[in-house]
Amino acid sequence: GLDVSKLRKDTGLVTLDYGYLNTGSTKSAITYVNGEKGILRYRGYSIEDLAEKATFPETAWLLIYGELPNQEQLSHFRTLLTENALLHENLLHFFREMPPGAHPMGILSSVVNAVGLFTPRFYDDENIASAFELTTAGLISKIRTIAAFAYKASIGEPFVYPEAERSYCSNFLNMMFSSKTRPYHPDPIMEKALNTLLIVHADHEQNCSTSTVRMVGSSQANLYASICAGICALWGPLHGGANQAVLETLLRIQQSGMTIEQVMAKAKDKNDPFRLSGFGHRVYKSYDPRAKVLKKLMYQVFEREHVHDPLLDVAIKLEEAALKDDYFVERKLYPNVDFYSGILYRAMGIPTNMLTVMFAIGRLPGWIAHWKEMHDDPQSKINRPRQIYTGKTERAWIDRDKR
Ligand code: ACO
Repeated sequence: GLDVSKLRKDTGLVTLDYGYLNTGSTKSAITYVNGEKGILRYRGYSIEDLAEKATFPETAWLLIYGELPNQEQLSHFRTLLTENALLHENLLHFFREMPPGAHPMGILSSVVNAVGLFTPRFYDDENIASAFELTTAGLISKIRTIAAFAYKASIGEPFVYPEAERSYCSNFLNMMFSSKTRPYHPDPIMEKALNTLLIVHADHEQNCSTSTVRMVGSSQANLYASICAGICALWGPLHGGANQAVLETLLRIQQSGMTIEQVMAKAKDKNDPFRLSGFGHRVYKSYDPRAKVLKKLMYQVFEREHVHDPLLDVAIKLEEAALKDDYFVERKLYPNVDFYSGILYRAMGIPTNMLTVMFAIGRLPGWIAHWKEMHDDPQSKINRPRQIYTGKTERAWIDRDKR
């Protein structure tokens, strides 16, 4: 192929690609996405198979280490997750001192970075492979503790600690919803739903947050700092923040009595900054396969639980309208992963401002896998894009009294 580095050296040419629509920043063997056909595979395994058959920790292992774990590896990983679920007691003050209403994504990113400060030996360890394994399991386990503690602190309830005998998802739901006066028995269908939600979010190649993790990690910043940056990137409403925006939009439509036609017209109006969150994707130009998995799951959960959520009716009407609308059809704007995830999380009792945190818990193994792949790749370099300078050319200095 074309040697761009040589071309740049020889000619001084710079490729200008706003938003990196067509810039490959790396080679990667982790996740395959075919946006035209709506295919998503982790390490070659289809998202449909993984969603149905895998557990989230198993998927995390697969993404990070490249193979499905055998029994021994899985049980070792589970032990590490159990042993590393707790946070340093000093960190608990942080949750209590945050202002009421502080966004849990801000708390999550800050505490993840701080966890790194309580684990200073990452680079000193002689055995880097086992240090990485421990750090990774610690992060995957602790992120769930951080999320649940942030929630408990926000509602003024005491923290509920992780329990060794519970599964990853059951532990999270217990830490979120159990209290001394109100024991919580996680419903198996909700555990399964959470497991699936985390799996479908676990990786998606060079999206904004993953590229951020790679960008920050490329300077050899540590894993905690790189993940912290990824969480901040995910927070934005055009990326992970879209799941919160979807639910807020659905609620607004339901409460305001706006008609579906009015919402569609607003989304299409170029003078209105409003966009229909949960629709459109940089890569998928057909139905997002993750949205398909979640839509099916949603019907299973709702039928089993006999739940009725008026927001689901609004969502279905919006989807039907979008699939028939010329503007949406021409631009290939289909529901993305975030369109149905919020409704599922709502059925589980997860508050709206925690939805992007849930996305982060799911995406963490993908971020770690990319950080590792980059560090293992002898070809990787510090990421440093160029620019086309459009400012003033050389100017003569003007003394202060003459300006
Ligand atoms: N509502 C209305 N119009 C839209 C939407 C939408 N949700 N998404 C895209 N469009 C329009 C754009 O206005 C543009 O129209 P134009 O060609 O007339 O100018 C055209 O469709 C193409 O959109 P771009 O913004 O150029 O596409 P891009 O690939 O840059 O953006 C993105 C993709 C950010 C996902 C966009 O579709 C969007 O803003 N969607 C809503 C937010 C959202 O759901 N984000 C979650 C993405 S999935 C994830 O992060 C996990």
